[in-house]
Amino acid sequence: MTEFTADDRRQMAHAIGLSRRALGNTAENPPVGCVIVKGGMPVGVGWTQPGGRPHAETCALDMAGGAARGAVAHVTLEPCAHHGQTPPCANALIRAGVARVVIACADPDPRVRGRGVEMLRKAGVTVQTGLMENEARRVLAGFFSRITRGRPHVLLKLALSADGKIAETPGRPAAITGKHALARAHLMRAQSDAILVGVGTVLADDPSLTCRLPGLQGRSPIRLVADSRLRIPHDAKLLRTCGRTPTWIFTTIAAREKALELQESYPHLRIIPVAHDEAGRVSLPAMLERLGGEGINRLMVEGGAHLARAFVEGGFVDEAAIFTAPEKTLGPGGLEALAGLPLAALTDAPFSLAGETPLGADVLRVYEKPGG
Ligand SMILES: NC(=O)c1ccc[n+]([C@@H]2O[C@H](COP(=O)([O-])OP(=O)(O)OC[C@H]3O[C@@H](n4cnc5c(N)ncnc54)[C@H](OP(=O)(O)O)[C@@H]3O)[C@@H](O)[C@H]2O)c1
Repeated sequence: MTEFTADDRRQMAHAIGLSRRALGNTAENPPVGCVIVKGGMPVGVGWTQPGGRPHAETCALDMAGGAARGAVAHVTLEPCAHHGQTPPCANALIRAGVARVVIACADPDPRVRGRGVEMLRKAGVTVQTGLMENEARRVLAGFFSRITRGRPHVLLKLALSADGKIAETPGRPAAITGKHALARAHLMRAQSDAILVGVGTVLADDPSLTCRLPGLQGRSPIRLVADSRLRIPHDAKLLRTCGRTPTWIFTTIAAREKALELQESYPHLRIIPVAHDEAGRVSLPAMLERLGGEGINRLMVEGGAHLARAFVEGGFVDEAAIFTAPEKTLGPGGLEALAGLPLAALTDAPFSLAGETPLGADVLRVYEKPGG
């Protein structure tokens, strides 16, 4: 049984906090944090940089310089051991003379798993693993999902009225939650690699689907639409702005002629035909597999009701973020959040409540499924 000190825990918590800064900004690489400590003081900190490089360990070692000799490195994921575009981080830690490495999670890739640890140990570095593994894994969930299941981690976000509705009238937009909830939802966008809506939401709301938080405007994820027959209006905001923010439409082969037309008008748009399901709609497993192949670690699904229902029924939701406005009701004519499926499908087992946060007059509840 590995013994960790209270200081190890504090430093690993710091490293996990740093790894969160990289969320949604490193695909297809994992968001990792690293803190190098000497004499109880951090001498180098780092997190994975945009696009995945430099790695967290490289940044922390650069900052630490000579102070890394004899120091302890706390890193949220096993240091890499393979020669990719950069030399292995395990080598860099050895060369810098780090005495001990504390790791939260082993690398899930079976081709890599354990090799970073082995390399360090062979060089005489003390290695301890498993510290705050569950906490670190939450941040790495997207990377773990893509590596082990070949598809992104799926976060479903819903904004509900007190009576469980997401729109006043089907096909019409409604402002349900307040500015604090909206800001949190925009942060979730920034922390995702891609964000998906059904074409029903595009037809109803003509959304921008960008992150508009001050300071994070550059962190808008790739915008995706599931649109089996290419019903998206030619003047939709998503199309008009696809040169500024990457936009992909998942469709089926049935829409091939419309696809050619649309592509001609919008050369920056990516139109991706995938298999269809029994109802002729975009097959969700096919779309998810394609997204995994594209290196997307974290997918945020923003609705609407029918797409959300399909994700829930398919068992593809790993995490649900449900914003509720307790003071607002939309009445019996409103659109039910999961188009007739009880909300319990997201709140009861196998899901469990992972956190509850008041946001102004609204409440955010996050539900997680084990293994997500
Ligand atoms: N409060 C919130 O959190 C929130 C968030 C988003 C939207 N909304 C509201 O929700 C309403 C729109 O919801 P909606 O249910 O009408 O539309 P939706 O869920 O956005 O889109 C549904 C459409 O997506 C397409 N689709 C493609 N593949 C699919 C698949 N595998 N499964 C399901 N659908 C697939 C289908 O059209 P094709 O068959 O033509 O492809 C389907 O009709 C709007 O009023 C909007 O304001 C609320």
